[in-house]
Parts: sequence; structure tokens; C-alpha cells
Amino acid sequence: MNKPIKGFSKLSKAAKLEWLTQNNFEHPDKTLELFQSYWHNDSSVQQKHDDFIENTMTNYYMPFGVAPNFQINGKLYTLPMAIEESSVVAAASKSASFWLQRGGFKTEVISTEKIGHVHFMYEGNAQPYFNEFENLENQLRESTKSLTANMEARGGGITSIKLVDKTAQLDHYYQLEVCFETCDSMGANFINSNLEEMAKRLESFTSAHSGLDESKLEVVMRILSNYTPNCIVRASVSCPIEDLESEGTSGEDFARKFKRAIAIANAEPYRATTHNKGIMNGVDALIIATGNDFRAVEAACHTYASKSGQYSSLTHCKLEDGVFTYWIEIPLALGVVGGLTKLHPLVVKALEMLGKPNAEELMGIVAVSGLAQNFAALRALVTTGIQKGHMKMHLLNILNQLEATQEEKAVITEYFKDKVPHHREVVNYFCTLRGQPIPKLGS
Ligand code: MEV
Repeated sequence: MNKPIKGFSKLSKAAKLEWLTQNNFEHPDKTLELFQSYWHNDSSVQQKHDDFIENTMTNYYMPFGVAPNFQINGKLYTLPMAIEESSVVAAASKSASFWLQRGGFKTEVISTEKIGHVHFMYEGNAQPYFNEFENLENQLRESTKSLTANMEARGGGITSIKLVDKTAQLDHYYQLEVCFETCDSMGANFINSNLEEMAKRLESFTSAHSGLDESKLEVVMRILSNYTPNCIVRASVSCPIEDLESEGTSGEDFARKFKRAIAIANAEPYRATTHNKGIMNGVDALIIATGNDFRAVEAACHTYASKSGQYSSLTHCKLEDGVFTYWIEIPLALGVVGGLTKLHPLVVKALEMLGKPNAEELMGIVAVSGLAQNFAALRALVTTGIQKGHMKMHLLNILNQLEATQEEKAVITEYFKDKVPHHREVVNYFCTLRGQPIPKLGS
């Protein structure tokens, strides 16, 4: 039985494990053994992983796969992908090979600005803030000098500070809206530290000002926004429509259906959600492999997908003068320095595999991964259907669940080579092969 515990985070790792396994599992000793079997055999590497978060008990393995043959801006890349979903890497590789024959992917970084806010309430006449904004802005910049010096030396820093009246949305609500260039870092800590300094200066500015009343000011939050509509990258492919001939479908038919599939995602949020989920399969796998924050990227992309007021597709397509052009445009606030980038040995290797890209190059590569994933999904959906490829990759998961031997796996994989391996049929075939009774439906 789980029981409340005080001061858990202060216990030693061994004591935490003891408490955890004794209180939560039917077989504490076996569970402890299992958790320990996932520890790294080099204790210094394990210590690094332990230190990423609080209360680390063990490591959670995630496959780290690669998808070769991505030609991006004329250069060949092998993409590192950390993901558990069986068909994603295979889909990426298929798209990569398809576009390798048709000129590859192109990318363009459109903007790189990040944004953060001091959210505050002023329950009085806020006009003096606006009247003397120049003075306030100078003071805000001055308050962050020691924080920004380094970033400025690298070509970044604070690019603008605005005072925004949000009282039409919420009574007494104002913002300092601050834009940043954070160069090769994602910049979350840099941005938040700056905002915290600025908030302090806003308070001292208020108390020193005869026309303002500090008791009417309440700084509510100082935080970056993960919505980064000014940190945008575009990735695209294009080829003559006739070159799209695919799975027995003519280029014209394929292009027309493909375009319709995107139009459906734009018209129907139920479809758009799945359509964009498929894109995020590619985006997240790269984001995780390169030690970036996939929750931040997910949040930004979904808000961006709603910018018209209706949640819609992140990919777009046009057919003009016999040419198919297909692209993605997404906000990606990424870093190649800071965070996990030097700490996680596999992140270091993932970045090395990509040729140690700067943040802008990485934005392009990640966008390509999203586009490639969407291309593979739509290509399957408008031709053979998704289950053929998906279930083929999932077959090994089913066989592992059944605890099939390597020999059995080889026989069964061969048998399903040209069939969709539905779960029930795999189980039936497996049982027949073993000479076991076929389980009844529902068992
Ligand atoms: C599965 O993870 C993703 C897809 O459903 C995406 C799509 O339908 O576009 C295949």
C-alpha cells in the first residue's frame, strides 16, 4: 500500500528505493533488482543521470534510432531519433530516400526571436508608466546589464521591451513584453533571469515615482512564453507532379489526393490533430535525441496551428505549373548549448552525428524531420492505407509480448511479409506454430 512520506527527497537513493519497492510492489526484491539492472555500469555516468532530476530511481530506456539519407540544403544527414513508436524511424527513412531522388529538402530560418513577460496588475492610474516609458525602459535595460553582457558578446541580448495595456482582456492587467535573441541557446534560464531582474526594477521604479503608488502594483509572474511565433523555420520539398507516381497511383492522382488530405486537415480539427501528431512524431524524436525540450516545442507548435482561430495543418501544399511544392512552417525555439547538450552522452553524439549544427541549422533539420514524417503518413493514407507499414513495424512488439523466440520471429515475419499482421491473426499463427490451442476471442 502506498503511504504518505515526509522528506522523501532528502533520503539517500538506497533509502528511497527501499521505501518505494517495499511500499508499492508485490515483489519488492525483484523490483529492486529490475530497477538496478537499468543503472549504467559506470557510476559516474549514472550519477549524471541521477542529477538531471529529483528522486531518480533508475533509467527509462527509449530506443535511439537513426534515419539516413536526408539531403538537406544539398548536404547529407543521418538523423538521430529517440522514440518508442515502431513505425516512425522507418517512415522517416522512406521519406528521406524518396526525396533524395527528387532534389532533397530545403530549409530557411525566417526568424529567431524569443519572448517573455512580466505580468503585473496595477490597480490605479497606470498612465505614468506609459508617459515615462523611455526612462523605465532605460532602467530595465540597466538592471539586466550584468546578465546580458555575455549574450551580447555572442550577438544576442534583449531586442525590445514594450509596455502593453491588457486591461481590455483582464481588469488592471499590464505586461512588460520583452523580446530576446538567445543565439545558440534555447534561452529559458537567460530569459527568466532577465525578467526577474526587470520585475524588481519595475517595483523600485514604482516606489520612487511620485505619480505611482507601489501598494497598487502587484507583479504576478515573470516568465518566458513558449509560444514563439517569431522563431520560425520553413522546410520544403518540390518536384514535377509526374515524379510523384507512388504505390501504383499516378503522380497527378497522388498530388491531387495529397493536397485534399491537407485541405481536410485544414477544414477539420479532428483530422488536423492527428495530422499534426504525425508531424510531431518526427519533430519530438529529434528534439529528444538532441536534448531539447519537446514539451515546449509541442506547446508552441499547437498554438501556432491555431493562429487563424481554427486548429489546422502545420504543413501546406500547392500544385502549380506541373510542380508539387510541399512545406512546413513551425516555431522551434531550440538550443545546441546549455541544458542537456553537454551533459547527456547520447545528446553529445546526436549533435555530433548532425555535424555539430548551430541552433538555426538544427531548427531546419527538425522541421525537415516533421515534414518527412507527415509526407510518409499522407503518402500511405492516400494510397495503401496506414496499417500495412504500421503493423509491419508493430509485428515485433506483438511477438515480443508473446515471448516468441528468434526462430519463431523469423518464421512469422516471413509469413506476414505481404499481409497486414493484425494482432489476432499473429496470435493465431503463433499458437498454430507452437501447437498450442488458439485462445478464444476476448481472452
Ligand atoms: C501515427 O502516430 C501518426 C499518424 O496517425 C499521422 C497521420 O494520420 O497523419 C499516421
